[in-house]
Amino acid sequence: MKKILTIAGTRPQLVKIAAVSRVLRQSFHEVLLNTGQHYDYKMAGVFFEELKIPKPDYNLKIGSDTHGRQTGKMLIAVEEVVEKEQPDAILVFGDTNSTLAGAIVASKLHIPLIHIEAGLRSFNKLMPEEINRIMTDHISNLLFTPTELAVQNLKNEGITNGVFLVGDVMYDAVLYNMGLAEQQYKITDFNLTSKKYFLGTIHRAENTDSKEKLEAIFKSLINLDQVVYLPLHPRTKHKIEQFGLQDIVEQAKNIKVVEPVSYLEMLFLEKHAKAIITDSGGVQKEAYFMKVPCITLRDQTEWVETIEFGWNKLINPLKTDLSQVLREVQNGQPIDSIYGNGDAAHKITNLLMQKI
Ligand code: UD1
Ligand code: UDP
Repeated sequence: MKKILTIAGTRPQLVKIAAVSRVLRQSFHEVLLNTGQHYDYKMAGVFFEELKIPKPDYNLKIGSDTHGRQTGKMLIAVEEVVEKEQPDAILVFGDTNSTLAGAIVASKLHIPLIHIEAGLRSFNKLMPEEINRIMTDHISNLLFTPTELAVQNLKNEGITNGVFLVGDVMYDAVLYNMGLAEQQYKITDFNLTSKKYFLGTIHRAENTDSKEKLEAIFKSLINLDQVVYLPLHPRTKHKIEQFGLQDIVEQAKNIKVVEPVSYLEMLFLEKHAKAIITDSGGVQKEAYFMKVPCITLRDQTEWVETIEFGWNKLINPLKTDLSQVLREVQNGQPIDSIYGNGDAAHKITNLLMQKI
């Protein structure tokens, strides 16, 4: 069996690994490396347990740091593992610093690099994720894209070899897990009423790193006429403390701040929400998969199809009144399969069997 070294380390990558490893391991010897970029139990451990992700062969325990230091430490440690394991290929997901570190090591050691979720672009180079995506795509040998547009984005940058449209592995994950979530939870477990609350997540640097922006987001959430259930990313929690915004958050009667929730809890909460307010890439798509309207607190998105078909709206809370937008929020057009058929992991595995 050929050996694939899979590298990941953040919450969304754990969701993607669970969907892909299950299928990949039927045909390949997979060695799993967790960089440890996310390390709190609620950001990582719970996903390994709930999604039954195999125990990683390596945990680098890199943790949080500045971009340069975090990525640099990953490069050193990943290189050692690759030298030892001599894999036939290296697999990375998405656009985080763990993705970039894995990609650079693979490329420098001349090991074929596989990128899942290739070709996405926000065209905003101030986002760290955009830099990670562009650099990873340009040194990848096999690029698995979730959408037609992603194929076109790659073509526009001169990348045509090794590009395959397979659909989105996060759709595979939703199809596999939604039934389990519905079996496991009821809405009263969360003290909520179905379709009578908004679900929120906020963690992007562009929203959390400016006091003015973060404060504007909370002030607009306070103005909403429904409960906002807000599983808070640790980055946002730390920034609220750093900027002294705790009082605003604690005094907001309609905002229910909770710790990050597990994936099954999140799917359940998404399904029953009246609308979702987020800056997460994954959550925007999940809103569409659940057919729940979504407001994205960003100026651009990589997931433009959700906008095109009316399921998602971009807004800048410094410029637009969120409560007005939510009063008018409606379901989008009924449309299927913009992110594939939920068999992306099978398509990827079949292609890898031919190409590696
Ligand atoms: C990272 C990704 C982002 C992705 C997000 C998913 C990069 C550059 N960014 O952002 O693309 O959308 O993950 O959630 O890779 N922290 C904890 N405990 C943890 C993890 C983080 O307290 O387990 C706190 C630390 O204060 C840390 C901050 O969150 O400094 C940011 O973590 P980091 O991994 O650098 O970036 P994310 O914002 O999580
Ligand atoms: N998620 C979760 N619990 C939470 C918030 C998010 O399980 O409290 C899941 C969500 O359902 C999606 C993924 O984490 O599958 C998205 O990760 P995140 O928003 O951290 O990153 P992004 O997709 O923006 O890179």
